Amino acid sequence: MTAPVRLAEPANVHVALGERSYDIAIGPGLMARLGSRIAALRPGAAAAIVTDETVARHHLAAAEAALAAAGVRSARIVVPPGEATKSWPMVERVCDALLAEKIERRDVVVALGGGVVGDLAGFAAAITRRGLDVVQVPTTLLAQVDSSVGGKTGINAAQGKNLVGAFHQPMLVIADTALLDTLPRRQFAAGYAEVAKYGLIDDAAFFAWLEANWRDVFAGGPARDHAIAVSCRAKAAIVARDERETGDRQLLNLGHTFGHALEAAAGFSDRLLHGEAVALGIVLAYAFSARLGLAAAAEAERVATHLAAVGLPTRIADIPGATPGLDQLMALMAQDKKVKRGRLTFILARGIGRSFIAPDVDAGEVTAFFAEKLA
Ligand SMILES: NC(=O)c1ccc[n+]([C@@H]2O[C@H](COP(=O)([O-])OP(=O)(O)OC[C@H]3O[C@@H](n4cnc5c(N)ncnc54)[C@H](O)[C@@H]3O)[C@@H](O)[C@H]2O)c1
Ligand SMILES: [Zn+2]
Repeated sequence: MTAPVRLAEPANVHVALGERSYDIAIGPGLMARLGSRIAALRPGAAAAIVTDETVARHHLAAAEAALAAAGVRSARIVVPPGEATKSWPMVERVCDALLAEKIERRDVVVALGGGVVGDLAGFAAAITRRGLDVVQVPTTLLAQVDSSVGGKTGINAAQGKNLVGAFHQPMLVIADTALLDTLPRRQFAAGYAEVAKYGLIDDAAFFAWLEANWRDVFAGGPARDHAIAVSCRAKAAIVARDERETGDRQLLNLGHTFGHALEAAAGFSDRLLHGEAVALGIVLAYAFSARLGLAAAAEAERVATHLAAVGLPTRIADIPGATPGLDQLMALMAQDKKVKRGRLTFILARGIGRSFIAPDVDAGEVTAFFAEKLA
């Protein structure tokens, strides 16, 4: 399991969802095929590219050229970068622009960007003309291994993150891994937390491979492509089993109950990126599992050691600025969607690669655990 697997051909992962099935194409340079793939799926269709200013600077010209080369007419809709873009005003702006550009029912929306653009463009596409097709072209590691796959789209509300949205599966995902060459290392590391998550959920061999090969994954090349392909395969399998998150898909929330509370406490800001919060949340979920006697302390330690090695935060004290208070964290967790009548649903673990859904965790146990961690 130590040699990086070479991908001579781009990898293709199929998401099996009946008539909503689609492919995820993974490999370097694949954006050059964007136009031909769209033309093959929707002959004669036009495309509207939704992207953010930062991604536009790096990759919009190449996307437009790929469309033009295949004779696909395209329009561009550029929004500001950042989490604040997942908002009602931006939904209105994108929907209006799609209509102004005369994007019709048989045309396609191309979401070119990270999770912010993917979630916003996907939601705008879901509601414009009662549903336009979307091609996701993820440009962050997080988006390539997680947000572009599975059809969750949406925006944030004053009441919390991702509270308004729709399930709207893409018709194609093109994960051009070379687009990650321009991604800042901190953003790459944040996405890596979600990659490690797949190993921790149910693939101990993949986690061990990451421990041995993470430097090559960060350096780019075949190891990076391999890690992305394994992650997409894992996500595709879970989504195919449970599209609407009534069962197994909840496993993808490993690290997210603790993580979302910390992310909110840090104000959804640059202090703590989503993936960084997930890394911290995963470490806490393993430490909590060890405290409950479910997992060996050595396993929890191994998880923390690996995430710290790649430069992710693993202790609450790693968050810059004021330390969140116990009451604040508990209130934030109680607000989370995963709470039912004072009992919390957590994803806990019996070890590496052995995560499970614990639907009935006592809030008192969590308070005691957090108090210890904050001390
Ligand atoms: N729909 C889902 O299933 C799902 C799953 C996980 C996360 N999400 C959402 O995804 C969002 C986070 O996504 P993200 O981490 O991709 O953040 P992001 O979209 O904000 O991108 C991070 C930053 O990187 C920049 N960037 C993107 N691609 C780049 C590139 N190739 N080169 C240089 N800069 C680039 C962006 O402009 C942005 O400033 C959150 O809103 C989260 O809720 C959704
Ligand atoms: Zn996440």
